Amino acid sequence: MSEVVYINGKFVPREEALLPVEDRGNVFADGVYEVVRFYGGYPLALDEHMERLVRSARAIRLPELNVADLAQQGLALVARNEVRDGTLYIQVTRGVAPRNHAFPPAGTEPTCFMIAREVSRPDESLLRQGASCISLPDTRWARCDIKSIGLLPNVLAKQEARERGAYEALFVRDGVITEGSSSNVFAVRDGALITHPEGPQILPGITRRLIVGLAGEEGIPVDEGDVHRETVSNIDELFISSTTTELMPVVRVDDEPVGGGRVGPITRRLQAAYERLIERVRAGNE
Ligand code: PDD
Repeated sequence: MSEVVYINGKFVPREEALLPVEDRGNVFADGVYEVVRFYGGYPLALDEHMERLVRSARAIRLPELNVADLAQQGLALVARNEVRDGTLYIQVTRGVAPRNHAFPPAGTEPTCFMIAREVSRPDESLLRQGASCISLPDTRWARCDIKSIGLLPNVLAKQEARERGAYEALFVRDGVITEGSSSNVFAVRDGALITHPEGPQILPGITRRLIVGLAGEEGIPVDEGDVHRETVSNIDELFISSTTTELMPVVRVDDEPVGGGRVGPITRRLQAAYERLIERVRAGNE
């Protein structure tokens, strides 16, 4: 079956879903987005993703979104494309207007499109053995809490990671690891999780929040605090999280081993808990 995408209220074959060149997403990255994971055709944390989309849209002063309708259309799109294990990408921009930095005239309709497709789970051997990361200066803007489609620093950082044989780039601001180019970061020290506090310097990850919840159920304490780049070789364990990366152990940063270069026991426990969560989603029980 050919792939169908959603664009401004319609389901159309992907080849026919064209955006005007003057869409403000194209010329200014003037928009926001979400990525929702599906397992066995069921969404993980759909409501949380839609709430964050509303928050991002309000933060950039887009007209109020009808997210209940968007969520319904998103589910319909996933079903139409027969997506089992995959993602739903949702993008909303300030619409189409002749290029001018200030907002377009009132009444300009936002552009909304969604793409649903199969996306495989992270590489199993990486999940088992852990990934390597590089660290880079956090050159992003001061509102990283908004899920903006303006991702140039993230793109450049991820590419540098790839070119240096690493899985992810960790951003460092004032000596502190904020988050990855497309993930949040957790350290384990003395049996407790440490993750950067929510605020303008990181995206409040949905997976991050799910993991904090799972840690609570497992009796693992969680502190929101600073993980300094310089202390990485002395911390016990490190992992990153995202909708697509799930919970990925990190065993090396810039060629320094973390936790002796092996995946640690708390990461393992949380991975197992996350796997059980995925199984509940797959069974339609979440
Ligand atoms: N990115 N931080 C950044 C900068 C991100 O781009 C992402 C996710 C996360 C993790 O958020 P969540 O757990 O809600 O996925 C943190 C998505 C997956 C992407 O851009 O493809």
